[in-house]
Amino acid sequence: MQENKRGSWGSNFGFLMAAIGSAVGLGNIWGFPYKMGKNGGFAFLIIYLLLVVFVGIAIMLGELALGRKTGLAAVGAYGEFSKKHKWVGYLGVISAFVILAFYCVLGGMVMRYMMGFLLQILGLDSFVGQGSGFFGFLLYDHGGMLFFFGLFMIINMLIVAGGVQKGIERFSMVGMPALFVILLFVVVFVAFQPGAIEGYKFMLKPNLDVFSNPEIGFLGVLKAAAGQMFFSLSLGMGAMITYGSYLSKKENLQRNALIIPFADTLIAVLAGFAVMPACAAFGVDYGGGPGLLFVSMHTVFEKMGNFGAFVGFLFYFLVFIAAVTSSISLLEVCTANRVDKAIAKGKEPNRKKITFIYGAIIFIVGLPVALDALGSGGSAIKAPYEILGITAGDVAAGFRVWNDCWLDLYDAFSEGVLMPLGALFMSFLIGWKYKPSTVFDECEQNGNKFRGKLFFTLCFKFVVPVAMLFVLWGQVKDFFF
Ligand code: TRP
Repeated sequence: MQENKRGSWGSNFGFLMAAIGSAVGLGNIWGFPYKMGKNGGFAFLIIYLLLVVFVGIAIMLGELALGRKTGLAAVGAYGEFSKKHKWVGYLGVISAFVILAFYCVLGGMVMRYMMGFLLQILGLDSFVGQGSGFFGFLLYDHGGMLFFFGLFMIINMLIVAGGVQKGIERFSMVGMPALFVILLFVVVFVAFQPGAIEGYKFMLKPNLDVFSNPEIGFLGVLKAAAGQMFFSLSLGMGAMITYGSYLSKKENLQRNALIIPFADTLIAVLAGFAVMPACAAFGVDYGGGPGLLFVSMHTVFEKMGNFGAFVGFLFYFLVFIAAVTSSISLLEVCTANRVDKAIAKGKEPNRKKITFIYGAIIFIVGLPVALDALGSGGSAIKAPYEILGITAGDVAAGFRVWNDCWLDLYDAFSEGVLMPLGALFMSFLIGWKYKPSTVFDECEQNGNKFRGKLFFTLCFKFVVPVAMLFVLWGQVKDFFF
């Protein structure tokens, strides 16, 4: 199929690979296992699944439908309904921008690990044996951090500059099946390690103890799971509006809106089946939080012995593919709006130029994230709490998750505030202003029958807004208390 000026997917399968690629990212392979580890395993899993069914699928459908109906990316799509709604689209662009600034730093760190294991396989480095110590070294290795951050950014720019079909779709069509095969290999390999069984038990054995833990409780688990669901499904900031805008009218939207969350959840659970049992088998704690992907997994590969370097390389390669197919969707959210704007003005859009300018600015905005050693202190760039004159760990003086490093600051702002706001307004607009029938009509193009109108109407009007208010409230509370 010939691409028009905006671009379009070559096939529904290509669209699915790109959209699932967007959804499956660091959120699945890193965030999901570590949040599950911290929030009681089984209890978290159940709440997460319920949220996907009652909130995630409806928003996914709403975003895809808005995009395909208008044939425009986030800002333009809302603008089609009313000029006054454009800012909901801009919220999305800003949050894509901010997420990219830290996501690409993490992507670079993943590449650094990937390279370390590769050098070990080639006999050029003793990377495996450095175990958990390497992470601390990397954080203060400013040259390395910058180099890999930049490299990851450049890979993103090249793919997005290549276009919707020839860049994003082509990369995803190769990358996503590869990711799936590697993940299955790792899951099976881990299953054969003695002691792995404890990891499965943690995930699957009914156990709601965490609800009576005063520090977390039911609301704590709900909040963690809701935030995770949003981020993992790439919702709340127009990524799916943008991807939906490239989809042909003949494809079945409702079915696609089920397949994407299903695949994303499957891969998150499989990632859990790789990480949790691996930690269990090698006696590494999985409740340690964000260090899981780097410190804990590195220790696992160290203890694995001969196979460690090889499995380690495969594992980080998989994480790398997952990260790239996600970050290109974020970059596309930014690029697509400019492309639409140029076309609306009757100009020839210059996708390459737009992409490179965005990439360069995002790199600059991401510099503090790459250089503050994740708030470990005494680095080239001060962490937010240091700038505020707060002592590390001094909660009484105002030390919080949002100011403990630049990454967490960017994350709290985008994931914590902008995304739930975006989703809240979107569900409000669809539920009450544009009416759910806008979505249903768009889905019923080409004779596809829409199923479950009542269910989705209830989701758009009530369930989603209430869930969103809840997430926002949780964030605000974290901010001050
Ligand atoms: N879903 C991705 C992940 O799990 C991150 C991501 C990509 C994203 N595009 C997004 C999150 C758009 C929110 C919105 O890592």
